[in-house]
Amino acid sequence: MTRHFTTINELSSSDLREIYGLATSAFDDETLKGQGVALVFERPSLRTRASSSTAVHELGGFATFFSDEEIGLDRRESVEDVGRTLAEMYAIAALRVRDHAVFSRMREATADRLALINLLSDEAHPTQAVADVLTIAEHFARGDVEGLKGLEVAYVGDATNVTRSLAVALLRLGVNVTVGAPAGYQLVDSGDEDPSKVEGGGTLCLTNIAEEAVKGVDVIYTDSWISMGFEDQAHRRRDDLATFRVDEPLMALANADAVVLHCLPAHRGEEITDGVLDGPSSLAWRQVYHRRSAMRGVLRWIKEERT
Ligand code: CP
Ligand code: NVA
Repeated sequence: MTRHFTTINELSSSDLREIYGLATSAFDDETLKGQGVALVFERPSLRTRASSSTAVHELGGFATFFSDEEIGLDRRESVEDVGRTLAEMYAIAALRVRDHAVFSRMREATADRLALINLLSDEAHPTQAVADVLTIAEHFARGDVEGLKGLEVAYVGDATNVTRSLAVALLRLGVNVTVGAPAGYQLVDSGDEDPSKVEGGGTLCLTNIAEEAVKGVDVIYTDSWISMGFEDQAHRRRDDLATFRVDEPLMALANADAVVLHCLPAHRGEEITDGVLDGPSSLAWRQVYHRRSAMRGVLRWIKEERT
């Protein structure tokens, strides 16, 4: 059966364990030998495009990039016809999309012949979450994701697609997650990547006070206040989220050896200060490093390699 990677939530814990293992284990260029991966981007990207292209190359495959202007999902032609076309030429399609429903529509249209990877949608950013877990595990548990149980992670700011995938991935590993966000920007129960539906793992707490969220935690995480597609709300968002900036006084409330993560791109002076992002607690560049490992793990898992 064709494997897909569109949310963290849809994967079993053993699938996730395999992905984390395959991300960091030795690899060769046989996995994708001679096979193509279509990289479709409806929105801009630096890290995701770079990590997908390099990971495909490392595994022996070739990547073709398609921009929004070229493909025009549901504008130049339907999502279904794009999927059917890609399925004739490529083994895998990895897409960054505005609307998460693109994945189910393509699966149906291609009768599951084309493996799909979500490179960010309005609901989820699961390849980022894999990189974030690898980064946190490397720092706190010598790379052993099972060793993260009981860790305390606070997400502060606008609860985004990144927040949802991160929270699902961490809760599944027994990590306790607190999301500090103002009313209107907090996690809501909905969609395919819903942290409130994770059972039996860590606990999920929501608060509208940033200071309360970060008190005594091991990790503080933040993302842009103005995600792609929300640019017309920029002014209002900067006002509403102003007290949720990750700055030095906020960091001082966390554990003394707490670290800070950011998926990037950062808006320095908005959701995070220069001092924190460039400071000794920042793991942001290690996260970038692990984007490529994460992508390798996902591609190898799709090709049904075993750890
Ligand atoms: N973090 C992340 O997905 O970065 P890009 O938008 O640059 O790909
Ligand atoms: N939440 C951000 C993540 C960017 C990597 C966005 O969707 O724009």
